[in-house]
Amino acid sequence: MTDQNQKEHAAWLQGPSVRCEVASEGAQTIWRLILLGAPGVGKGTQADLLHQKLGACHLSTGDVFRAASRQSECDLSPAMKAATEYMRRGELVPDTTVWEMVRERSACLRCGGGFILDGFPRTLPQAESLKELMENEGLALTAVVSYDLPASTIIARLSGRRTCEQCRTVFHLTDRTPKQEGVCDRCSGKLFQREDDRPESIKVRLEAYDRSTAPLIQFYQQLGLLLQVEASGAPDEIGERTLAILASRHG
Ligand code: AP5
Repeated sequence: MTDQNQKEHAAWLQGPSVRCEVASEGAQTIWRLILLGAPGVGKGTQADLLHQKLGACHLSTGDVFRAASRQSECDLSPAMKAATEYMRRGELVPDTTVWEMVRERSACLRCGGGFILDGFPRTLPQAESLKELMENEGLALTAVVSYDLPASTIIARLSGRRTCEQCRTVFHLTDRTPKQEGVCDRCSGKLFQREDDRPESIKVRLEAYDRSTAPLIQFYQQLGLLLQVEASGAPDEIGERTLAILASRHG
């Protein structure tokens, strides 16, 4: 995620009291996308690429919880403090906390620049709540892109992930290496390994995905919104694949 991207969706990351520095112009096509897929399949990487191509904001619920975990404890509500603990263990944050957080930021869903939701919804109750809110607001989803990859590749992607502590750009130890080891190409920030990328948390996250999130594939298929995309290959190839499928349905 670039500095510019962070400024563009400050209201999402920091909450409704903060205004985005870069106003979203009403685009010709307003893309309202959901990215589905197991942890580590590459949703964040693709959301970043799609943001650059389509202009819609990359809205990640995980990024909001990670931003909360960097605040001092006394600035956090009890629910947000508990959320950071769930995240550290690799468990899903309770639906009530997640929905409260998204509902507070519903202006981001109404934004004329569109959105790319990454990591939300993740359970059927979350998907139902989003559907109801969008219907009440007269908003329609463009598509739900579901990325698919074998579990062994997913584990390799998560184990090697390194993230910039300043601008949040994502790298990989062998597949997306920074020019200088441990240093971000974009802002020279220090790279770190996410706490929930430890093997014991990865196992919990993959189980939570199978149990709670995978049923959303059928939910969105029945609504006629699902587009399935193979997530193997280089990030740019997958990005092109995604854009081609979106164009064939909505060009
Ligand atoms: P969240 O931040 O949403 O994490 P996630 O869904 O587990 O997804 P990841 O960020 O781990 O992976 P990704 O698919 O974005 O992959 P990435 O692009 O980074 O959620 C974190 C936690 O917050 C949850 O566990 C939960 O506790 C909580 N939470 C958040 N939302 C919630 C909700 N709605 N309900 C309840 N709880 C919620 O790529 C991974 C690695 O692979 C990187 O190193 C990348 O460089 C590399 N890579 C990417 N693409 C490629 C490629 N094509 N080839 C080679 N390497 C690649």
